[in-house]
Amino acid sequence: MALVPTMGALHEGHLSLIRAARVENDVVVVSAFVNPMQFGPREDLERYPRDLGRDRRLCEGAGVDLLFSPTAEEMYPRGFSTWVEVEGLTDGLCGRHRPGHFRGVCTVVTKLFNICSPDRAYFGEKDAQQLAVVARMVRDLDMRLAIVPCPTVREADGLAMSSRNARLTPEERAQAPSVYRALSAAKKLVETGERSVVAVRDAIRTVLAEADLGEIDYVEIVRADDMAQVSVVEGSCLIAVAVNFGGSGTRLIDNIRVSA
Ligand code: PAJ
Repeated sequence: MALVPTMGALHEGHLSLIRAARVENDVVVVSAFVNPMQFGPREDLERYPRDLGRDRRLCEGAGVDLLFSPTAEEMYPRGFSTWVEVEGLTDGLCGRHRPGHFRGVCTVVTKLFNICSPDRAYFGEKDAQQLAVVARMVRDLDMRLAIVPCPTVREADGLAMSSRNARLTPEERAQAPSVYRALSAAKKLVETGERSVVAVRDAIRTVLAEADLGEIDYVEIVRADDMAQVSVVEGSCLIAVAVNFGGSGTRLIDNIRVSA
């Protein structure tokens, strides 16, 4: 049995996870739950897109056997006080910029695993740190399932699909593909021999400057296995970017893998 955990507002990225699960499992369960515990007090919990009717239709169309959409009260009854926390891997990137975020993710994912008892759970590489953190949690706590990574699905112009993209203003949407353009330029630079983290980050910032409606949250180069910052681009690395489009209050993340 497979579980595809989501926060709903399904798009092609989610559907690619569901399709991968459909091929490999007899039963496919999708959860759609906007998990309040992974949102900070100044984040977009209230404004997060929700459309359960549409999610249900998309799941039916994709051959999902069960759509699990609990309420916050069901998941977190009064007196709820147990948390799952992965250390180290969560220090940088989104972990640094969203305190408590991965504690909320790990806690809800653990609950979903316990409720559904899947053999496999599918996660997108778009959220690379989340994928690494969940995989580490499963290993460290001897959870009896396999985590299956799935590649990032993009719009034709390169923008990584995200439920939050719908909230971008037309002007922000026009600028948003700069994020992937910047990452692609960085990858090319590494492929042509650049090893300096400073040089690669500068190249990214230059391309991102085109997106003047966005404010850079971070541009980081980390080791792919433990998400630790590197001083030289070497081995398997992840180049990760977060940009905040303040007009609509939409934070976009993306990453690209390089090997040097
Ligand atoms: P959500 O953002 O809805 O994403 C659900 C899953 O879809 C995650 O594994 C995410 O990495 C994957 N995904 C999103 N956009 C994708 C894309 N463009 N290509 C490939 N995969 C993509 O991530 C969460 O929800 C939550 O944190 C959750 C794990 C459900 C815990 O609440």
